[in-house]
Amino acid sequence: MAKDVIIACDFSSRAEVLGFLDKFTERKPFVKIGMELFYAEGPEIVREIKARGHKIFLDLKLHDIPNTVKKAMSVLSGLDIDMCNVHASGTSAMMSAALEGLVRPDGTRPLLIAVTQLTSTSEERMQKELLIKSSLEETVLHYAQNAKGAGLDGIVCSPLESGMVKKHCGEAFLTITPGVRFADSKSDDQVRITTPSKARELGSDYIVVGRPITEAEDPVEAYKRCLNEFLV
Ligand code: C5P
Repeated sequence: MAKDVIIACDFSSRAEVLGFLDKFTERKPFVKIGMELFYAEGPEIVREIKARGHKIFLDLKLHDIPNTVKKAMSVLSGLDIDMCNVHASGTSAMMSAALEGLVRPDGTRPLLIAVTQLTSTSEERMQKELLIKSSLEETVLHYAQNAKGAGLDGIVCSPLESGMVKKHCGEAFLTITPGVRFADSKSDDQVRITTPSKARELGSDYIVVGRPITEAEDPVEAYKRCLNEFLV
């Protein structure tokens, strides 16, 4: 399986994101396009970045009734993206519908992964506000098992949860993990963080790295450092 570093392109305009990507003249990074850029620039920015030779994780975290998600996924698969996602809390029926919608006329489809519990949700809030009585870990694992049962390819989780998820869902079930920082850089607003090499040791398949690369003095060097630490 191809492990890789995905750069979170959290920019709000075409000019900014293309200016950033222009710096990468050798290897074309796998990039994550989130809501901010997609809502600002629409599907055309996805086509444009794809045409430049990048793999794309379209991070729109769909969550709606199964029929609506299926139809929306069918539109997104037409964008020739490589990976996209839904919220596991939309239920297994919604995840199965999403998967059906993603299959292109030629039988191919992007990878589909599920968001379990957002890393911004604490166990206390989950229990008090969402009335989920289990622990955060149990909830993440249960949602991962639902995603696997629905035929999805993997989940987004903390690198610290990768091992547990792999143990119960199998090595081939992908873990895509944000919250990565270099040992000598600041943590920003991320709390449960690991370095790229630790994420590799813990079994992450893809690490999602934003600010340590996008805000670096030399983003290309920072990207290479991530690759070197994660892929060795
Ligand atoms: O800049 P930073 O490396 O913190 O960026 C991490 C990226 O991963 C952001 O785009 C953020 O929205 C995303 N993400 C996250 N935690 C999750 C899911 C997505 O940090 N649980």
